[in-house]
Amino acid sequence: MSFWTRRKAIDTITAGHADSHQLKKTLSWPHLMALGVGAIVGTGIYTLTGIGAGLAGPGVILSFLIAGAVCACAALCYAELSTMMPAAGSAYTYSYAAMGEPVAWFVGWSLILEYTLVCAAVAVGWSAHAHGLFKAMGFPDALLAGPHAGGLINLPAVIISMAVAGLLALGTRESAVVNMFLVAVKIAALIVFVVLCLPAFDASHFTPFMPNGFTAAPGPDGVKIGVMAAASLIFFAFYGFDAVSTAAEETKNPKRDLTIGIVGSMAVCTAIYMIVAAVSIGASRAEVFSKSEAPLVFILESLQHPKIAQLVALAAVIALPTVILAFMYGQSRIFFVMARDGLLPRALSRVNAKTGTPVMMTLLTGALSAVLSGLLSLKDIAELANAGTLWAFIAVGASVILLRLREPNRPRVFSTPIWQVVAPAGILGCLYLFISLPVKTQVYFFYAHLIGAAIYLAYGVRKSVLAQAEKAAKGA
Ligand code: ALA
Repeated sequence: MSFWTRRKAIDTITAGHADSHQLKKTLSWPHLMALGVGAIVGTGIYTLTGIGAGLAGPGVILSFLIAGAVCACAALCYAELSTMMPAAGSAYTYSYAAMGEPVAWFVGWSLILEYTLVCAAVAVGWSAHAHGLFKAMGFPDALLAGPHAGGLINLPAVIISMAVAGLLALGTRESAVVNMFLVAVKIAALIVFVVLCLPAFDASHFTPFMPNGFTAAPGPDGVKIGVMAAASLIFFAFYGFDAVSTAAEETKNPKRDLTIGIVGSMAVCTAIYMIVAAVSIGASRAEVFSKSEAPLVFILESLQHPKIAQLVALAAVIALPTVILAFMYGQSRIFFVMARDGLLPRALSRVNAKTGTPVMMTLLTGALSAVLSGLLSLKDIAELANAGTLWAFIAVGASVILLRLREPNRPRVFSTPIWQVVAPAGILGCLYLFISLPVKTQVYFFYAHLIGAAIYLAYGVRKSVLAQAEKAAKGA
């Protein structure tokens, strides 16, 4: 068998779980929505709103709507596959079953890229909100910004990346109670922001609505601008929803609860984001607050609410590290599954006997995230993270279609509604967002995958568990 056609059987993916204990079905759709909103809301809304408004003008509201709709399609596809193959590895595992090993490797490599970059991006967003705190401690400006912003290194971003990696290596897990509290903090800060901005709302700020047009086209300095350019960046604000599909086994009525939970959390986040963007533009002006790295804080300060502005910054400082924690944990999980399949060296994902965590992998991710966040701009990092995620979502949509055609009668706990429309719409939406990304991002993504392909051809193609099994079968 050629490695191109090497696929994992769905039954082997799920077999390990058949006899493991059944999780208690205690969750219903309100729990799932809370879980989803908690995982999704982060740096995207707190920081990228500003950069997005700079690219699209008031039309950034439309950018949020488009990115949210594409993510909703992808999320429904995720739900179908995650309930069909409730195994770790998400898009990577589904692709292994639906499209074979090389595509699975491509998706896994994209996810590794994405998870590391999300950690770095959130660290930069965190740093923008902790700026005042570090300045008060006497840090010079040169250590508070990367070279792209006239500094030497973004030290706060480096510190938070390493701190979270350290915590994770020591065995910290997200706790449901702490998580609930932080969701409340994040949302409360956004609600306070909206309430305080409303009295200053000026509808004249909305014209012209799309000063840079709809499609992503190069602006005066060559950077792509327009509603779609902003959508391809703001897409970052929406992911994290796979958290909802991973809770599938614990839902009372998966079909109803997952549909409402996933579409609901997407709809709630899209609505929150659109409202925050609209009141920001109404209270300030897109071209004014887009210059700030902490736009919501900046707007509150300009409305003469300095104390509340500090509280909103504090809310971001407290709540954003959990997003890093979640993605760093996800990174080690993906790596672990790929190593278990023989596509990466097992030694790298070895679990430490004392802490029960893959210490080496976690610290490596932390170090990489620290370097990236210390030196690069948030926009560049987030866009590259989006490129990886978009391809993972495309793979998920394609997997749904292929498995529906190949195995129409396999039981599905959750079926994507009108999959013939939703899956292709998700794929096309992701492709459109990908081509709207800056050319520079697309080129970096291509190089990252060239390196990935070289690693696969040098290692995984021979060492994978399936390759070894083929070899053994031939020898027998
Ligand atoms: N959606 C997450 C955020 O915006 C990654 O921080």
